[in-house]
Amino acid sequence: MSSQQQSGFFISFEGGDGVGKSTQSRLLGEWLRLATGRDVVWTREPGGTELGKVLRQAVLHGDHMDPRTEALLYAADRAHHVASLIRPALSRGDVVITDRYLDSSIAYQAGGRTLAIDEVEKLSLWATEGLLPQVTILLDLDPRVGATRLTDAPDRLESAGDAFHQRTRQAFLDRAALDPTRWIVIDAAASIESIAVQIRDEVASRLGIVPAPEPARAPVPEVS
Ligand code: TYD
Repeated sequence: MSSQQQSGFFISFEGGDGVGKSTQSRLLGEWLRLATGRDVVWTREPGGTELGKVLRQAVLHGDHMDPRTEALLYAADRAHHVASLIRPALSRGDVVITDRYLDSSIAYQAGGRTLAIDEVEKLSLWATEGLLPQVTILLDLDPRVGATRLTDAPDRLESAGDAFHQRTRQAFLDRAALDPTRWIVIDAAASIESIAVQIRDEVASRLGIVPAPEPARAPVPEVS
């Protein structure tokens, strides 16, 4: 099934750590549920499935590993995620919103770790049998600002250093510029509400969603 044949909507959020992806994916999903009447599935990579949780633990909290091993673990997580969760949900006609998808591998394993972009892309497209989101929202922020918003102890990727995260940010921006039909780039330094409205407007126009009109309110009785 290509992304054109599915009946649901597939949306991904991308960006550095601490940019607000989970807050914005929740807000967008709640809005889409009301606007479209469809079920919404929120998920994430790595770790959107039971097997994925094991792979997430290994890749984020395990021992040092070389960049190819790291890329293969993310690809394995993604293959299982797509086959067991994302494609079935799209076939049912659901909205699927994922925090991170294959563009994270291109930004982190190619941009950050400096593997070849085309090789990492081929690996991910093989893993997913070519499934791409209809819309990808990049929340763009200076990684130094994102780092100040993190609360938990840093994982392997978060500890990779400022130069790594600057390359990752640039890789996301470069990739977004190549495909403006799929990507929406948002300045993540703005307020939560203003970012949510920008995302909503762009997603509605790209997916052709016309929100159902608000139910008419009963007239308020006049008090004499
Ligand atoms: P994330 O779940 O967004 O982090 P957290 O929940 O701790 O805020 O992502 C985990 C890390 O994995 C993040 O630093 C980015 C990295 N990552 C890759 O390097 N490649 C990938 O393909 C994916 C999906 C994530």
